[in-house]
Amino acid sequence: MLRTNTCGELTSRNLGKTITLAGWVHSVRVHGKLVFLDLRDRYGMTQCVSQKDLDFFKHLKKESVVQIIGKVQKRQSGQENKEMITGEIEIVIKEINVLSEALPTPFKVEDEVIATEDTRMKYRYLDLRRKPTQDLIILRHKAAKAIRDYLDKEGFLEIETPMLAKSTPEGARDYLVPSRVHPHSFYALPQSPQLYKQLLMIAGFDKYFQIVRCFRDEDLRADRQPEFTQLDIEMSFIEEEDLYKLMDEMIKHTFKVCLNKTVKTPIKQMDYHEAMDTYGSDRPDLRFKMELIDLSKDVKGCGFKVLENGGNVKAIVAKNASDLISKKFFKRLEERVKKNGGKGLVEIRFDGKEFTGGVVQFLKKPFVKTLIKKLAVKKGDVVFMVADQNWAIACECLGIVRTILGDKLITDKKGFEFLWVVKFPLMLYSEEEKRWVSSHHPFTAPLDEEIKLMDKDLGKVRSKSYDLVLNGTELGGGSIRISNSKIQEKVFEKLGISKDEANEKFGFFTEALQYGTPPHGGIAFGLDRVIALMAGTNSIRDVIAFPKNKYAQSLMVSSPSKVAKKQLDELSIQLKKQSK
Ligand code: AMO
Ligand code: AMP
Repeated sequence: MLRTNTCGELTSRNLGKTITLAGWVHSVRVHGKLVFLDLRDRYGMTQCVSQKDLDFFKHLKKESVVQIIGKVQKRQSGQENKEMITGEIEIVIKEINVLSEALPTPFKVEDEVIATEDTRMKYRYLDLRRKPTQDLIILRHKAAKAIRDYLDKEGFLEIETPMLAKSTPEGARDYLVPSRVHPHSFYALPQSPQLYKQLLMIAGFDKYFQIVRCFRDEDLRADRQPEFTQLDIEMSFIEEEDLYKLMDEMIKHTFKVCLNKTVKTPIKQMDYHEAMDTYGSDRPDLRFKMELIDLSKDVKGCGFKVLENGGNVKAIVAKNASDLISKKFFKRLEERVKKNGGKGLVEIRFDGKEFTGGVVQFLKKPFVKTLIKKLAVKKGDVVFMVADQNWAIACECLGIVRTILGDKLITDKKGFEFLWVVKFPLMLYSEEEKRWVSSHHPFTAPLDEEIKLMDKDLGKVRSKSYDLVLNGTELGGGSIRISNSKIQEKVFEKLGISKDEANEKFGFFTEALQYGTPPHGGIAFGLDRVIALMAGTNSIRDVIAFPKNKYAQSLMVSSPSKVAKKQLDELSIQLKKQSK
């Protein structure tokens, strides 16, 4: 080894010892006739000193890799740094060898960095030298290890599934890979290993997991990447409660090992309907209350037509928020509501005695009284109301308002609030596509007692599905699967997938279902999201070593990029002219 120790371990116990360190030159400071060099590696930082060769040190380039041979001595009294493990000692340099000289770096490799995200991503290997980014990658390793340890102990097998696969319907666009051997044919990169893991159950593997890359060509956001990692799990002979129990314990174990935090189990469960009705979201942030209050019955004869004839009328109260909600902010909220299909947003303020606001003039006394009582308003409170004939739209719109208000008003959101949201509708009607679509995916089982409703009232049928939510983010989702080929065919039919299409796309799978299928179910977590939330960062890019930017590019390696004509010819691909 080119070193005897790391930069993060020498203490007073090593005084007098001759050691060899190797690492990056973090800083060089000349004080009169003394030079101090901070040497850094991923374990920490060690101060090295020299009284010789000042000129050499003055010209030593930061971020160069050097090897230092020297003796451990106590720092001068008053110079100790209690915050650092190595803070009591320093190395008297006997010999220094430059192993690799560095060019001036595009940004300073320090905890706080001023560079733009583009620059950091272009030089991600330098960005990754910074301690805060290293810590995130190390946390990711620890979490993956804790998860593997837990699942291994529970008898799960980690089994790999193909990357050159066939399209599975998770709802996003596929990334396609052209086949050279079979011109005009394509593999699809997996959006998830969904069908493979179900086939592994049919194969008898019982308890499967995989930490696996998935690919989805969709519009990117802070919590979405074109390639991301799932912790994918599937089990045979289970029901929903078995899965909740096991996952609760896995989460508990992982948070304890990685963060020394105790997650309270069992994690609370809430029906989808209740989550929507109470919080206006299927992934409510439970770190604050601000519940939706139903006024649908109270608005009869209230005097304001918008509410009176509104259908589903919901309200929320922003406590003591009068001074914080400007006209401009309200307009922003109203716009978001309209963008989500709502018709508008009513805002009224309570001054301790009465309400103020444009629409108040229409409101009749008894309704105002009801409002004061039912909403328990106090001076300074602001009330928002949405009315819509469509229950889901009314809830969702006010849910969006709740989320934005939560971000603005509740700044001390702390802790980890987990929630299982369960029993999603089996299918939702898409106005856009004018057809029924799966709310999870087509392999999700309907509740046994509601199968009979499938032909009568499809929208009412709920499924054996669940999402795990943490602080308003969907960490993972899954379901008990259909293990009966007749029901599977019925679901395809309701989704408007013709027999031929189903055969072509999933024929291999519906056939497999007929050779002895154990009842089974599973879940997949977005591992990047789990780590990001553990670390308290907003963007999953922070916890991925080499992420793509929001335009799905890597600025570091310049991908995606053009390829040679010869490569395209081999694939029988001819490029269309780009339209301007
Ligand atoms: P689903 O589509 O809900 O389920 O995905 C599971 C979890 O993966 C994460 N996720 C993403 N993370 C980052 N970037 C993305 N583009 C992205 N898309 C999804 C989310 C999500 O909860 N096969 C099913 C699971 C099952 O039924 O077992 C599936 O893939 O955290
Ligand atoms: P208007 O009379 O259309 O100017 O609306 C007066 C106020 O009522 C505005 O703040 C609108 O955003 C709001 N509004 C209109 N329709 C609805 C609705 N269905 N639910 C809630 N607020 C609404």
